[in-house]
Amino acid sequence: MEKKIKRIGVLTSGGDSPGMNAAVRAVVRTALSCGIECVGIRRGWQGLINGDFVLLNGASVGHILSRGGTILYTARSDDFLTEKGRKRAVATCKTLGLDGVVAIGGDGTFRGALELSRLGVPVVGVPATIDNDIGCSNYTIGFDTACNTAIECIDRLRDTMQSHERCSVVEVMGRNAGFLALYVGIAVGAVAVLVPEHELDFQRDVVERIQNSRLAGNTHFMIVVAEGVGSAVEIGKRITEEVGIEARVTVLGHIQRGGSPTGRDRETATRMGYYAVKAFYEGRKNCIICTQEGGIVEIPIEEALKMEKHLQMDRYHIMEAMQLGGSIANNL
Ligand code: F6P
Repeated sequence: MEKKIKRIGVLTSGGDSPGMNAAVRAVVRTALSCGIECVGIRRGWQGLINGDFVLLNGASVGHILSRGGTILYTARSDDFLTEKGRKRAVATCKTLGLDGVVAIGGDGTFRGALELSRLGVPVVGVPATIDNDIGCSNYTIGFDTACNTAIECIDRLRDTMQSHERCSVVEVMGRNAGFLALYVGIAVGAVAVLVPEHELDFQRDVVERIQNSRLAGNTHFMIVVAEGVGSAVEIGKRITEEVGIEARVTVLGHIQRGGSPTGRDRETATRMGYYAVKAFYEGRKNCIICTQEGGIVEIPIEEALKMEKHLQMDRYHIMEAMQLGGSIANNL
């Protein structure tokens, strides 16, 4: 491989996700193995504006593979949305002698990356968000860990719901997407999963599901609600009023973002971090490192940002098929 760059920066931006540290480690270790120096930019794009950085060597990223969160800190930067802020970020890149920046994060991070690339700073993006809502990549770092964390919490809830013969309404994250909710809902055997991608008919999707399940012998019920659907508290109230069953609401919140990354997230993050540096090293830039059908591909940022990802509705029908006393004949 022909060496073209001497020094790169790496940053994490937006909501943190388990596995970001593994990606940072992979970027640093791969860079060093190619003879490239690596500078950690702290607090995302805001850190680039403020010149908030730390020099990284192989040892500085030791023992972080198994740690959740991000050692580089993260932020959502309003200043970076302004031209003035972005120009200051470019000035920092010049001062630090950065030949490129690896930006680890989600949609907002990549929109920032596109703006920076337009100002002449080469950027490579690595998708990391528990929402799994990045159109260009079928997987984003942190999704698997967040699913497993939510599943573990809901399994615990089930014990007490079953004992009291109640209905549990659990709100999971995902911003405007239902990937996390649907995956988790299938894995915990939810009676209903409410996602923004499926228009809610409360009578059909909640009331009748619970009633059918009750007629089939169930005495407790688990409902998973994606945060993009609306308030789980309101849904809980309606269940109590319209079905006449005691409901308890749990908003899992930021607990889903923490914890040690799963094997899948550690391995994917390591591969993505490696390929991000490889792209720079081989003279490519302004792309996002994506997973598609099991392999890694590079997609230009501008094109990647236009790509959409749709919730797999077959998974929704599979969830329906698992219901006691339900009928999905029309969907098969
Ligand atoms: O995008 C990741 C995410 O965790 C979303 O699921 C959630 O809606 C949002 O971030 C929460 O953001 P914050 O940490 O700013 O409250």
